Amino acid sequence: MHKKLYGAFALMVAGFMAEAQAVKTAQVFADAEKQTQVMLTNVAEIRTTKPELVAPRTLENGELKMVPSKDWTSGFFAGELWMLYAFTKKPEWKTKAETYTALIEKEKFNGGTHDMGFKVYCSYGTGYQITKEAAYKDVIIQSAKTLSTRFNPTVGCIRSWDHHKEQWGYPVIIDNMMNLELLFAATRLTGDSSFYKIAVSHANTTMKNHFRPDYSSYHVIDYDTLTGKAVKKNTHQGYAHESAWARGQAWALYGYTMCYRETKNIAYLQQAEHVAKYILTHPNLPADKVPYWDFNAPAIPNEPRDASAAGVIASGLLELAKYSKNKKEYLSVTNTILQSLTKSYRSPIGDNKGFLLLHSTGSKPANSEVDVPLNYADYYYLEALLRQNKK
Ligand code: GLY
Repeated sequence: MHKKLYGAFALMVAGFMAEAQAVKTAQVFADAEKQTQVMLTNVAEIRTTKPELVAPRTLENGELKMVPSKDWTSGFFAGELWMLYAFTKKPEWKTKAETYTALIEKEKFNGGTHDMGFKVYCSYGTGYQITKEAAYKDVIIQSAKTLSTRFNPTVGCIRSWDHHKEQWGYPVIIDNMMNLELLFAATRLTGDSSFYKIAVSHANTTMKNHFRPDYSSYHVIDYDTLTGKAVKKNTHQGYAHESAWARGQAWALYGYTMCYRETKNIAYLQQAEHVAKYILTHPNLPADKVPYWDFNAPAIPNEPRDASAAGVIASGLLELAKYSKNKKEYLSVTNTILQSLTKSYRSPIGDNKGFLLLHSTGSKPANSEVDVPLNYADYYYLEALLRQNKK
């Protein structure tokens, strides 16, 4: 074919493909709206007698399990409502998002956990990005101040957990990378660089201690607060200390991609690319690209999947594709993940109390939340769909 003609033909095909993708996203969001209406009805009913419960988390024996604002997953539902508003622009979703976001506000003073980013940034942060509401900005800043109190300069990290004191003196988990986004945002909003510095210190210390030579990540690192040295390299939700817990790898990929966006430090970009390579070339990553709950789970292929890890990986890769020379590969894998989740992991509309995705795993070792819906799977699935739609 003539070169110019071929170019025009290729452009036309790409145009058709983009169109088909957009139509599919619109359909998935239309389904998500219906399913979320189901969820809202169930949530409202439970809240009439238990108003302290603010968000749906999972299904327990088929029943809806709701959580109070202090739970690490409390902000995802409000975030989902914001994303429905972002896509549809329907004012009713904004009203719902505002209502469920407000229920998280008191967490801005809760210094008892590192999960501030998950709780406040996924709710207030997502809302602020869309509305630029001044009151939301204040909540984000106060939350960052509270989170900063958990930073230990000798260790160079924010302390993750206060529980399991008998096991770990100063535990830092790979998940904690996700909370740094709140700190970067607080520096942007205030001009106070102290939040940024804490985030960078945490990211650098984690890069030094949390990863194996193959760029898989440990779950829990325990630090000695006198010397700042890493003294234990453990797991809590993974199969073994030396295994690669799937969601942990996903947090690492997403976390370092976000750190590169915020700092433009090339070391973070390279780290994210290394983690992506570990995940995408792993022999135990199934053909549909939705990981088992741990890459080294002993009975693969007879092990539960973790759709939440797949959602986080898809969303992270979509951002990484913007910065990396591996863009084509990342977009192709993301497409596979989102097609798999959409085709084979979604709940029928009206079922499962209104959750969007099935087949996630919270903590297999604790036999908790195995092969169930989880609100953060739904959140990162919607975020990935929005990112894919924008690219
Ligand atoms: N941050 C807890 C989890 O990923 O399960």
